[in-house]
Amino acid sequence: MTRKKKLPRFPNDYLGTKANEYNNQIWMERNQKQTTRRCINFLFDPCLGDIHHNQDSEYLILDLGCGTGFSSELLIEYGFNVIGIDLLPDMLLKANIRKKGIPDKETIFELILGNINNLPLRINSIDFILSVSAYNFITYNEKNNHEKINLLNKTASQLNKILKKNGRIVIEFYPYDQYELEIFLNSFKINNFNGFYIKDNPKQKGGQTFLLLTKI
Ligand SMILES: C[S@@+](CC[C@H](N)C(=O)[O-])C[C@H]1O[C@@H](n2cnc3c(N)ncnc32)[C@H](O)[C@@H]1O
Repeated sequence: MTRKKKLPRFPNDYLGTKANEYNNQIWMERNQKQTTRRCINFLFDPCLGDIHHNQDSEYLILDLGCGTGFSSELLIEYGFNVIGIDLLPDMLLKANIRKKGIPDKETIFELILGNINNLPLRINSIDFILSVSAYNFITYNEKNNHEKINLLNKTASQLNKILKKNGRIVIEFYPYDQYELEIFLNSFKINNFNGFYIKDNPKQKGGQTFLLLTKI
C-alpha cells in the first residue's frame, strides 16, 4: 500500500495565515510533541551502539525543520541545548514567540533561518540531530529521482560533517513508497552512517517512518 492520507503541501501550507493555523491547532501540538517524544526515545536506542558522553553531560541537538517550535520546546524541557532551523520566516517567527514564553533556563536555545540542505554550522559541533515531519520536504524542488538522490546524498554528507563522532540522528518522515524510503536511508549509508528504519506496520509501504542513524 502506498500513502493514503494527503500530506501537507510545501511551502504553501506553511505560509502566512497557514502558519498561524498550524501554530494554533491543539491537535497539531499534541501530535508533534508525541512524535518528538518517540524520537527522543529512539535517540537513546541501544541498537545504535555506544553513545558518546559529553564531559558536562549537556547535549547539543539540532532540530531540522523546527517549524513553530513544538519539538524544540519539548527538547528544551528534556534539558537539551537546542538549535532549531527552518526555511520559512512565517514559521520561525512563531517559534521565536514561543521561545520568549519559555522560562529562562541554563540551556541554550537558538533559532536560525536557514536551509537543511545548506547548514551554516561548524564541523564536529553537534551531538544529536532530530527532525519531525520536515525531512521529506527537502527534495520538493527536485524534478526527478536523479536530482533527488544527488541532493539527499549532499545533505547527508553535510550532516555527517557537523555531527560529532558517534553522533546520532532520528528522522521522522513520510516517504511516498518503499523506493523513496530506500533512497533516503541509502543517502546516509553511503555517507558513513549505520542505521535502520522503523515503521509501526511492517506491511505499510509509505507513510510514517523513523530513520535511526549513527555516525560511524
Ligand atoms: C510540519 S512543519 C514543522 C514540524 C516541527 N517539528 C514543529 O514542531 O513544528 C515542517 C517544517 O519544515 C520546514 N522545512 C521544509 N523544508 C525545509 C528545508 N529545506 N530547510 C529548513 N526547513 C524546512 C518547513 O518550513 C516547516 O516549517
